[in-house]
Amino acid sequence: MKILVTDKIADEALEIFKKAGHDVTYNEMDPNTLLKEISKYDALMVRSRTKVVTDVVNAGAKGNLKVIGRAGIGVDNIDIETAAKHKIPVVNSPTGSTMSVAELAIAHMLALSRHIPKADSTMKHGEWAKKQLKGNELFGKTLGLIGSGNIAQHTAKIAKGFGMKILVYSPHCTDEKAKRMGGEKTSFENLLKQSDFVSLHIPHNENTHYIINEETLSLMKKNAFLINIARGGTVDEKALFKALKEGKIAGAGLDVYEQEPPIDNPFSQFDNVVLTPHIGANTKEGQIRAGTICAEQINKVLRGETPDFCVNKHLF
Ligand code: 3PG
Repeated sequence: MKILVTDKIADEALEIFKKAGHDVTYNEMDPNTLLKEISKYDALMVRSRTKVVTDVVNAGAKGNLKVIGRAGIGVDNIDIETAAKHKIPVVNSPTGSTMSVAELAIAHMLALSRHIPKADSTMKHGEWAKKQLKGNELFGKTLGLIGSGNIAQHTAKIAKGFGMKILVYSPHCTDEKAKRMGGEKTSFENLLKQSDFVSLHIPHNENTHYIINEETLSLMKKNAFLINIARGGTVDEKALFKALKEGKIAGAGLDVYEQEPPIDNPFSQFDNVVLTPHIGANTKEGQIRAGTICAEQINKVLRGETPDFCVNKHLF
């Protein structure tokens, strides 16, 4: 079968296809080329860069497309409804990058509380800014997790090791689950009011769009930090910019943006904002797991088997 891979995927994943006897094309093609080419392929494998929009799914369905694979967690770049209409399964690898993303959330928290970017850049400019770089410990601080899935759970586990108190808000979280995470379930409002770090671990959809906005930011403590390593669109960036400018919160750690890459990133002017370019899952280990799990899911569908991780499950 013919597999098209349009984003950077671990070699180990490509090997799985080759071992199964498939013909693999790796080409980071532009949207128009993808639209023209997709009908020739039996499977498409992407990360978040490639937008598998309605026209692409329709064009694939007219041709040979049998499965779409997302080597990662978020499937907001894929038109799942149209895929379902054509009975095309969308498979992903929801467990592959858990540790990588959770570790980046903690990295942002440490970078913010110890001013690591500023310390590094001043040193590299020959300055000894010790007096200006007084930080805070994570020990004893409250981490508010919005979401209770794999990444939130692993973030809680690491944060507990730092001696942090954990609060969890999620409509899907029970008291028992929050306890298992070493934390306490609370309301969204209470989490915002109590936390020293508010960290998002949710997908972007109509329920979570701008969940962090002017009103919800105003509930956060003045000395609290917002961490978004989940998805752009969950935070109203204009409201966040205003909150930072007016000193309503202490700072932010951002890995994801409403537009990626952002144009004229407004947050680059703030010393109390740490920016990374959507690298949450971008580790050697995370990419091997995300890629190989997804490749196995695609192979299962191509063999006529039921995949373990399918977003439009009702097709099986
Ligand atoms: C995900 O949804 O898995 C992460 O956001 C990673 O996205 P990426 O595979 O494009 O790095």
